[in-house]
Parts: sequence; C-alpha cells; structure tokens
Amino acid sequence: MTATLERTLYAEEVKTGRVVWFTGLSGAGKSTLAAALHTELAARGVAVELLDGDAVRENLSKGLGFSREDRDTNVRRIAFVAGLLAKHGVTVLVSAISPYADTRREVLAELPNTLEVFVDAPLEVVTARDVKGLYLKAIAGEIKHFTGVSDPYEAPQTPDLHLRTDEISVEEGLRRLLQALGEG
Ligand code: PPS
Repeated sequence: MTATLERTLYAEEVKTGRVVWFTGLSGAGKSTLAAALHTELAARGVAVELLDGDAVRENLSKGLGFSREDRDTNVRRIAFVAGLLAKHGVTVLVSAISPYADTRREVLAELPNTLEVFVDAPLEVVTARDVKGLYLKAIAGEIKHFTGVSDPYEAPQTPDLHLRTDEISVEEGLRRLLQALGEG
C-alpha cells in the first residue's frame, strides 16, 4: 500500500473525539462524575482519557499556583492536550475548576465536539462536605485565593449539562451524561 493511500484510509477511520469539560467548585463532584463516566465508557470499548485537575497539577502543571494567570495557564494546557487526543478519536474527560467564564469559552471554542458540564452544588453544601478539609482552612484564612471563598467562580450561564450534585445521585448524573453523549 502506498504511503498516500495509507494516510487516506487512516484519516477516514479515525473519527474526531469528544471533549467533556467538567467545571465547578472544589468538592462539587467533578472528579467523581468524570471517573464514573470514564469507567463506563471504557467498559463499552470507547477510547477515553481522563485529565483530572489534581493529576494534571502534579505533572503537566507542576509548580503552577492559583492566581488568575496560573489557573488560565493550567486550563489552556489541559485544553491543548485534550485537543491532541481528540484529534486521534479519543473521548477526553476534563475535570478542572476552570473558574473563569472567558477562558472556558476561549478554550472550548477551539476544541471539537465539546460538552460543557456544570457540576453544581451550593457553597454551603461543598463547605459542609469539605472532602479534603480545604474549605475549613480557606475560611480560617490559611489558604489564600480559594475558589468560592476568597477567589471567584464564574458559573456557566448556558452549560450543555447542569448537574446539581446535592439533588441527584452519581448514578443519575452518569445516566444524564451518557444520554447527552448519545451513549444512553
Ligand atoms: S483550576 O482553577 O482549574 O486551575 O483548578 P484545578 O486545577 O482544578 O485545581 C483545583 C484543586 O486544587 C486544590 N486547591 C485549590 N482549589 C481552589 N483554590 C485554591 N486556592 C486551591 N488550592 C488547592 C483543590 O483540591 C482542588 O481540587 P478539586 O478536585 O477541585 O476538589
């Protein structure tokens, strides 16, 4: 087979992937829902990759802090990698607070087949959950620039999917995600 023909076949076979972008406060349930979706899609044989905020910050974005500039850099790096993966047919699940509406809009506009998912729970709820013990520290002033406490979170006004995690179960959230992806 000639190189040209091989390239043509390859281009036809590889469909562009999707990017599911989970945004929301710390403790709202982004990672939980993204992990559940990851497990389900992988079990169905879908090529899927998870770019989770914590793991990204330990590797790709090591050394970045939580100033607006650093958060935007983090979000743009994640989007860059997501774009590369999606180009090769991978469904990419991004879980990052990504608090700034403009930056989310900017990166999502550059990505193919996006689904913006607002993982939403009121501040009182995530503070009460305080899964990582960070809200207590933030309220005590021990962590500066903490999203929702001493730093902004700009909620999406028109997300593709709005999941209130204080009102629905993880199973219901997963069901709605699969439905939105046409995998229901
Ligand atoms: S961002 O804004 O998208 O760049 O944030 P992200 O990369 O998702 O990282 C959020 C996780 O970092 C921990 N953490 C903080 N979050 C918000 N504000 C401050 N100041 C902060 N410091 C540390 C926190 O555990 C977040 O994890 P999640 O998974 O969201 O709970």
